[in-house]
Amino acid sequence: MTKTEIIKGKVKTVFSTAEPDKVLIQYEDKVTAGNGRKIDFPEGKGEVCCEISELLFKELEKNGIRTHYVDRYPFAIMSCKKVDIIPIEVVVRNVATGSLCRQTYIEEGAFLNPPLVEFYLKDDLKDDPLLTTDRMKCMGYTEILYSELITSAIKVNNILTNIFNKIEFTLVDFKLEYGHDSKDNLCLADELSPDGMRLWKDGKSFDKDLFRKEKGDIVVAYKQILSDLKNTITL
Ligand code: C5P
Repeated sequence: MTKTEIIKGKVKTVFSTAEPDKVLIQYEDKVTAGNGRKIDFPEGKGEVCCEISELLFKELEKNGIRTHYVDRYPFAIMSCKKVDIIPIEVVVRNVATGSLCRQTYIEEGAFLNPPLVEFYLKDDLKDDPLLTTDRMKCMGYTEILYSELITSAIKVNNILTNIFNKIEFTLVDFKLEYGHDSKDNLCLADELSPDGMRLWKDGKSFDKDLFRKEKGDIVVAYKQILSDLKNTITL
């Protein structure tokens, strides 16, 4: 398979292929936090994140969410539709923690019902600032796109919450990225793994907070999530 590197992200590398509307995404054995300021290279991390993402993208597709997922190759490569990424990170929060509690007086652990859907600019150099609807309008994003993103993010939240409830994990919050495919369809893109979501069970984290706060081995935790998901979800 001939492939050419087109984008080197923090923990994934995107390659173009002979098919112009597809890309290959290599999930690396690498983890970063604090906008790349903290970094490590845990063995097996790329593969487990790729497998969890595949499983969740497939579940979302089954439930009517269009995603960029096409296929997975051994061991940590995902074949995806080529999409034009919208440089906005959509964060959904069911429980207050993280930056929400650092930046406001909202109490840690408070349940957010209805869930909070927030938009952040995807720009490391600007430290991913929180966006307002007016700022998004000024940047040229239409109200149609804004409502499409909110509607999709809420639907994704319902589907994922349901899946994680089955394996007795609380889906605390997560980040989504979207793009448009060659036919201009809105697709859920990027990755869906504990690298971009918080998952709690019995007061413990099973996500990137283990790395951020140096509280445990992320690969062990991610593998437990994967194995629980595999035991519960029939593909
Ligand atoms: O840091 P914060 O509390 O805003 O993160 C909310 C959720 O979004 C967390 O699950 C975090 O892992 C995810 N996130 C992410 N990438 C970012 C910012 C947040 O995956 N750049």
